[in-house]
Amino acid sequence: MRVLITGGAGFIGSAVQDIYLQAGHEVAILDNFTAGNPAYVHPQSRVYQADLREADRIRQILQDWRPAVISHHAAQIDVRQSVAQPVTDAQINILGSLNLLAAAAEVGVEQFIFASSGGACYGELQQIPAPETHPLQPISPYGIAKVTVEHYLHFYYQVHGLRYVILRYANVYGPRQGITGEAGVITAFITALLTGQTPFIYGQGTQTRDYVYVEDVAQVNLQILGWPEPLTLNIGTGQETSVLTLYELLQKLMPTKTEPRFLPERLGETSRSALDVTRMRQVLGWQPQTPLVQGLQATLDWYRQVLN
Ligand SMILES: NC(=O)c1ccc[n+]([C@@H]2O[C@H](COP(=O)([O-])OP(=O)(O)OC[C@H]3O[C@@H](n4cnc5c(N)ncnc54)[C@H](O)[C@@H]3O)[C@@H](O)[C@H]2O)c1
Repeated sequence: MRVLITGGAGFIGSAVQDIYLQAGHEVAILDNFTAGNPAYVHPQSRVYQADLREADRIRQILQDWRPAVISHHAAQIDVRQSVAQPVTDAQINILGSLNLLAAAAEVGVEQFIFASSGGACYGELQQIPAPETHPLQPISPYGIAKVTVEHYLHFYYQVHGLRYVILRYANVYGPRQGITGEAGVITAFITALLTGQTPFIYGQGTQTRDYVYVEDVAQVNLQILGWPEPLTLNIGTGQETSVLTLYELLQKLMPTKTEPRFLPERLGETSRSALDVTRMRQVLGWQPQTPLVQGLQATLDWYRQVLN
């Protein structure tokens, strides 16, 4: 299948690129390289350097590449940045996505896969783990943008027949991750520990998240390629892990012990989060394969290599 991956030079998009190429698909990536790294682009991928906000350029790229599928991973991913600069966030995450959707409908793209966010779309959880039917009550411009694009996807399906798959990710972690993303705490701990700095823990470290390994997320992206109907899935493990537990697990994988520094709790931070992944298991007949300790070890090994 011919696929265009936006954000394909980033953390998750580049892992999706790798698994698609391995499976024999034709891949082009679209990225403005603000956060993406050219080194993550596979030599077999075609590259379009472009910004989602440039509507004409996006249309030209789609006319040129003519993908059957768009995997939309490009985004401004920093929740704090979205609070500080909501207009810029909306320009990239809402209007940029809309540029892509409009062009996709125009050139007859068959399927649109959207990297959404469980944590950001549901807001403060009323039920843990949260199922796909949980109310959508985002508490950040970043989350509002994800929910808005989900609504546009429904519109483009109803009116233009553009099939969609919404993947509401939990906290994705693994090699190539930056520190601003939703599971950035793992990268922050690892880089601090490997470079001899003191890692910070905000509050008492009791906040929980659902951490899912990037290769498992890439595997889901492969399984839903060409899915015949619209689908919305939580992608995670359903397990809650506290920041303190994460730190302890990482410490066990390190030769020396370091005491973290505890800082005041961050305002507006959700205290507990995990996604109900029953639908993912039922629909795909599959669940994430990487235990947390194994994923942390792989991530640590990767950072050891790049920081050397
Ligand atoms: N990492 C997580 O835990 C997580 C959780 C939920 C959802 N997501 C979503 O998954 C997607 C990928 O996230 P990631 O963690 O890989 O982030 P990332 O920053 O590594 O990747 C995003 C990519 O988009 C590119 N980009 C940013 N703005 C652009 C623009 N205006 N035009 C073109 N390209 C642009 C960046 O250069 C980068 O390569 C995002 O949509 C993010 O919201 C991530």
